[in-house]
Amino acid sequence: MNPKQPAAKPLVIAADHGGFELKTFLVKELERMGRPVVDLGCHSPESVDYPDYADRVAEAIARGEADMGILVCGSGIGISMAANRHRHIRAALVHDHLTARLARQHNDANVLVLGGRLLGPEVARDCLETFLATEFEGGRHSRRIAKFSCAPNELADAVPSSPRRPN
Ligand code: RB5
Repeated sequence: MNPKQPAAKPLVIAADHGGFELKTFLVKELERMGRPVVDLGCHSPESVDYPDYADRVAEAIARGEADMGILVCGSGIGISMAANRHRHIRAALVHDHLTARLARQHNDANVLVLGGRLLGPEVARDCLETFLATEFEGGRHSRRIAKFSCAPNELADAVPSSPRRPN
């Protein structure tokens, strides 16, 4: 490790019971890839409430313990909704290679969300690898992300609108 460079932050991962099995698989994949990961639960297939696990990941990112997270519930829908209630979270529910790539390139997603009851392990691994390997493109996408959660008066100051720009 270069002593001048700060150590890379770990990823944080959490799931409800519907995502427990896929989360267990993803933790092993991350370890195989040599990516440090902190598992914030749940730690068994016993029934739990997915917003509690969305909050764990969002709060760890807010505290600066991680820059990126992974969340899994049965469909991915509920846990992504809950995570996106946090203003600093851009959680993207991803289904395949393309949505994993676009979530990073266009949306600068900081949380990858997967449906544990929907995806097989090969597709989930590809989503994970693609999400982690893809950079945000910036440019016009930065302006759009800057509009997230802005009240109208904040918005007027923050970002000019551009109705006729393509893509
Ligand atoms: C739990 O049964 C299930 O509702 C949850 O994992 C998730 O799919 C919700 O969106």
